[in-house]
Amino acid sequence: MAKMDDKLKGLEERRAKVLAGGGPKRVAAQHAKGKKTARERIEALVDQGSFVELDAFVEHRCTDLGMADVEAPGEGAVIGYGTVNGRMVYLFAQDFTVIGGSLGEMHAAKICKAMDMAVKVGCPCIGINDSGGARIQEGVDALSGYGDIFYRNTLASGVVPQISVIMGPCAGGAVYSPALTDFVFMTEGSSNMFITGPQVIKAVTGEDVSAEDLGGARVHTEVSGVAQFKFRDEEATIEGIKKLLSFLPQNNIEDAPLAKNGDDPAKLVPQLGEVLPDSSNKPYDIRNVIEKVVDLGDYLEVQPDFAKNIVTCFGRLGGRSVGIIANQPAVMAGVLDINASDKASRFIRICDSFNIPLVTFTDTAGYLPGVGQEHGGVIRHGAKLLYAYSEATVPKLTVILRKAYGGAYIAMCSRHLGADQVFAWPSAEIAVMGPDGAANIIFKKEIDEAADPAAMRKDKIAEYKQNFANPYKAAIRGYVDDVIDPAQTRARLCSALTMLLGKRQSHPARKHGNTPV
Ligand code: HXC
Repeated sequence: MAKMDDKLKGLEERRAKVLAGGGPKRVAAQHAKGKKTARERIEALVDQGSFVELDAFVEHRCTDLGMADVEAPGEGAVIGYGTVNGRMVYLFAQDFTVIGGSLGEMHAAKICKAMDMAVKVGCPCIGINDSGGARIQEGVDALSGYGDIFYRNTLASGVVPQISVIMGPCAGGAVYSPALTDFVFMTEGSSNMFITGPQVIKAVTGEDVSAEDLGGARVHTEVSGVAQFKFRDEEATIEGIKKLLSFLPQNNIEDAPLAKNGDDPAKLVPQLGEVLPDSSNKPYDIRNVIEKVVDLGDYLEVQPDFAKNIVTCFGRLGGRSVGIIANQPAVMAGVLDINASDKASRFIRICDSFNIPLVTFTDTAGYLPGVGQEHGGVIRHGAKLLYAYSEATVPKLTVILRKAYGGAYIAMCSRHLGADQVFAWPSAEIAVMGPDGAANIIFKKEIDEAADPAAMRKDKIAEYKQNFANPYKAAIRGYVDDVIDPAQTRARLCSALTMLLGKRQSHPARKHGNTPV
């Protein structure tokens, strides 16, 4: 017995050393930056007492560049499993207090173990990044570690949700692991991501830029679209992760959890009849529609600050998670452009990967005209949207609120791209092109020859609008399943979702499609 006591004491001492990370000084420095340690972050994220750490005793085996005597408690990474709101997750968190969280061979091996286990058991994998990048002393072994992680990120894609959390530096090739995952969270003020940092940029291009302005949370959520979420501090970031997880299933063969929130799926919402302005050219905020349709008015916007002309969010209908894609008439008349296409198509593919039905709200002025858009490749970017909607086999519901002209009508999950149910409000305008452009072309002769061309043009626009810019031409063909009172929108969507519970659709076998990029 005494022997075991000694051994237990030895174990305790070893564990205490690992738990101390880089030691009190480095922990204090971490706290002074407003950052938690790796273990504190994990504890804040998981249900109290649920975290089980693995590989705490892993050590590096590098002897180059003075590393033989360097101790790296936990190898600068904490990995293990725990529950978030009772649901299993695998986690890894880089420990900046240990050699700057730098990634060596064994640090990478720990991360790979967490990823492999997440895939094996079918649960989300959450990675908290806070690292100086490849551990320089370990050379190619560190690079191989990154390669191993990227490989796993790719193979796990569409199998289990992968969430990256950036809570410190994430530079060089290290950024590609988060970029390969489904969601990237950043904490304002303390996180940054870039391929080459400010010093290299200064040396190569002469540009002067701070780390924050180059790759801070604002830049990546508003400008580059690399990150989906930013939060003001680590606590808020962690709450954001928990909320996101609540909408997701554990893996690709499960459904998202059914929330018993008590909101009546058959509820009529008369206020929806008052959302649209009097004139069809006036803007309004589509989020007023989303909020009134979803359970309890609760939804989570994904990339709320990027390509604001389209809204992508998770919400619930009758307790079931749905992914909502909605043109935003309040921003650039809800046009489709390069960034909106990228944002929406990635979101659609995430939802489809994880069995989350799609709900589309259409009201767009069409594609954004411009040399910049054409030269920027709006053709290939826009094609992603068509591809993503067509490929998706989850239930697909579409509501056309107002404008749905030309290619934009097709692209916004029309019947032709496989929508299972298409509803239109009586205010819907579904036609090949807008009344002004159409009248100019098809009534050109009458307008040119009229005594008062301007008056004739006005008449012809009104005539076209009356006869063609409505939902009934499409309803006559069955492209629209029903024209509905806006008040019924929620009830009809909930009913359609229930009706579609048994939907089974598969495409012909192929290795994989060649999605436009
Ligand atoms: C080894 C590293 C390290 C690294 C930091 N450290 N980064 N050790 N390899 N990559 C060590 C520091 O030497 C220091 O050790 C401790 O971690 C804390 O770092 P500080 O510099 O004191 O911290 P701070 O001032 O907060 O600056 C953080 C930093 C800076 C901005 C991240 O450390 C930095 O610029 N590091 C190098 C970043 C980099 O160039 N990485 C390689 C990228 S290339 P001591 O003992 O002094 O406390 C790459 C390729 C990946 O990652 C390719 C994948 C395909």
